[in-house]
Amino acid sequence: MTLAPGSPAVRALFPVTEQYAYLNHAAVAPLNRRTADAMRRWVADWEAHGTRAYPPAETVQAYRQRAAALFNAQPDEIAFTRNTTEGLLLVARGLDWRPGDNIVTVETEFTANVYPWKNVEAEGVTIRRVPSRRGRIVVEDVVAAMDHRTRVLAVSFVEFYTGYRNDLVRLGAACRQRGVCFCVDAIQGAGVLPIDVEAMHIDFLATGGPKWLLGPMGAGLFYCRRDNLNALDPRLYGWLSTADPDDYFDYEQPLSPTASRFEWGTLSWPSLVGLMESIALLLEVGVERIADYVLDLTGELMAALQAKGYELITPAGRREERSGIVTFRPSSASPEEVASRLEAAGVVVSPRGKGIRVAPHFYNTWEDIDRLLEALP
Ligand SMILES: Cc1ncc(COP(=O)(O)O)c(C=O)c1O
Repeated sequence: MTLAPGSPAVRALFPVTEQYAYLNHAAVAPLNRRTADAMRRWVADWEAHGTRAYPPAETVQAYRQRAAALFNAQPDEIAFTRNTTEGLLLVARGLDWRPGDNIVTVETEFTANVYPWKNVEAEGVTIRRVPSRRGRIVVEDVVAAMDHRTRVLAVSFVEFYTGYRNDLVRLGAACRQRGVCFCVDAIQGAGVLPIDVEAMHIDFLATGGPKWLLGPMGAGLFYCRRDNLNALDPRLYGWLSTADPDDYFDYEQPLSPTASRFEWGTLSWPSLVGLMESIALLLEVGVERIADYVLDLTGELMAALQAKGYELITPAGRREERSGIVTFRPSSASPEEVASRLEAAGVVVSPRGKGIRVAPHFYNTWEDIDRLLEALP
């Protein structure tokens, strides 16, 4: 049986639907039954059998395959991390910067994609922030900010506040043409919109589990294009980065020839097991199908909000510029007041800046959106 977005079978996997219109996936997703069960099983196994619960190498390889399938990557290009920041720091701290280099980014980034780059300012590297135009990031503006000293373009797939979806295909092509590393913070898109690291010419991609990937806290993914493995500094490595971590007595081992070299030390297995179960669910439903469904929901929501007289912060553009995020300005009270009033009515959203950010996933329905519209002042 295929799981259709918005179907009763899908909703039954999300206990949160029993009480709430949960529209907050750009903040943190609720756990679904399959993920929670997988984590419970793993913990029970661990409790009963200790180290025997440790996943065998084949399971770990299957996990890498599953994660790679999300991005059209190869399994050996995937490293398991704790969060998005860890992946971004691997790039920011790992590249061999020279004074006078610059990083191009955009002005509407979440702080997680700001501070890792500020780390390298002390090495004489400057950060160029391209302004948006009414929330839109214009590819030509980004390209105009690059020069022969640009080493990295660092952008989010989807901007956390406006919900604007960057044109990764065109940005990636511009980077490729100029020899600039293309580094994407994918957390606001991964799991809800398709990502293809090949078509998008992405060099490095970092994401965390607990938003649109529907995973628990503590597990994230880092993609490193195979050709770039050696571009990141090998000083940032640990015992699990070696070619054979099970050889405890050889201190002179080479690094792992794959992205597992970025895993350093013991991972948070309960979190990883949960994230992998969530990714299996997303792949079963199909990310293309999820995107189609969610873009319909957010498109209708934008039209309904405008009809009610609300001003949108999300640019009401072409479908390819949209995402799972819609942010609008509440008219009669502060975003915080409106968000708590909505929460009292069982509608979960986030106040962000001057707006209310609404972020439905594939198990939400038009009834959830209606509940939001009815509860709005
Ligand atoms: C664009 C973006 N990147 C990263 C994060 C989170 O970073 P991390 O996974 O390192 O906690 C968020 C939200 O919390 C975000 O909106």
